[in-house]
Amino acid sequence: MSEIFQKSLRDSSLKIEDVLSKILEKKISNNKNLNDAMRYSVLGGGKRIRPFLVAECSKFFDTDEDEILQIAAAIELLHVYSLVHDDLPSMDNDDLRRGKPSTHKYFDEAIAILVGDALQTLSFEILSESYKKIKKIDQINLINSFAQYVGQYGMVGGQAIDIDVNQKDLSLDKLLEMYKLKTANLISFSCQVGGIVSGAEQKKINALKNFGNNLGIAFQISDDILDVIGDEKVTGKRVGSDLKNNKKTFLNFFDIDNSKGEIKKYCDLSISSLKIFGPIPDTLLGLVNFVREREF
Ligand code: IPE
Ligand code: IPE
Ligand code: MG
Ligand code: MG
Ligand code: MG
Repeated sequence: MSEIFQKSLRDSSLKIEDVLSKILEKKISNNKNLNDAMRYSVLGGGKRIRPFLVAECSKFFDTDEDEILQIAAAIELLHVYSLVHDDLPSMDNDDLRRGKPSTHKYFDEAIAILVGDALQTLSFEILSESYKKIKKIDQINLINSFAQYVGQYGMVGGQAIDIDVNQKDLSLDKLLEMYKLKTANLISFSCQVGGIVSGAEQKKINALKNFGNNLGIAFQISDDILDVIGDEKVTGKRVGSDLKNNKKTFLNFFDIDNSKGEIKKYCDLSISSLKIFGPIPDTLLGLVNFVREREF
């Protein structure tokens, strides 16, 4: 990871942590245990690449940085909900997340389910309160689009393929569809929001959508590789989770070297998706290179 990219990701992470912490201070319930478990799950850890993408892709347009940060926070809250539920015993049964005990391990299973539920609705609450200066109809369209990207037609639909007991029959095409839904959808939405709220031309929004989809697929292939050869101290997650759960992954179709070749292919496709904007900004190029080589 280049030093310049490392610094911009760190700066962006600090900003989003601050926004998330303020949201969780303000949007507090009467239940201390639930509040504590939400803070535990959201704060302190994670690469925060989705907020980074929201912020950097919004720079192609005339956007309000503070409002964009609220949207970035809404997306991160939804992402954390997906991680908390993904780790549950009935899903991937993972006890380590972001280098700490998973929410259901540190608290308990029931509270982890509720944390996920609460973070999902909080995400929509924050999204509906942000970017109020755009037309109401555009704001409703933004929220509607987010729901489609993350619900049963999107991320949740991808997770349903992932836990399907008939996974042994999964073809490579179906596996790629699963990656697109469970992982690339949220990444792709993160890339598009700045364009959506600024009423950008559809072809620019489509370019960002393709950028995010290709990057998201590369990201999940590398996630599957790290599940086999990663270092727990660096990834903050257990190695061998997919094998333990008999999950079909990219490595059932390609060996590690060829999988890395496929990561490069999707990363190159993501870069070329952005040519409508001219030379790719260093920050986004840094992120693509990070996804290509990442160890965490
Ligand atoms: C993990 O996402 C879940 C996948 C989609 C592979 P990240 O690798 O972005 O997790 P954090 O947010 O950095 O913990
Ligand atoms: C999860 O994929 C994608 C989500 C929507 C959370 P994984 O199950 O491979 O993610 P990790 O490896 O647990 O982070
Ligand atoms: Mg999973
Ligand atoms: Mg998992
Ligand atoms: Mg994984």
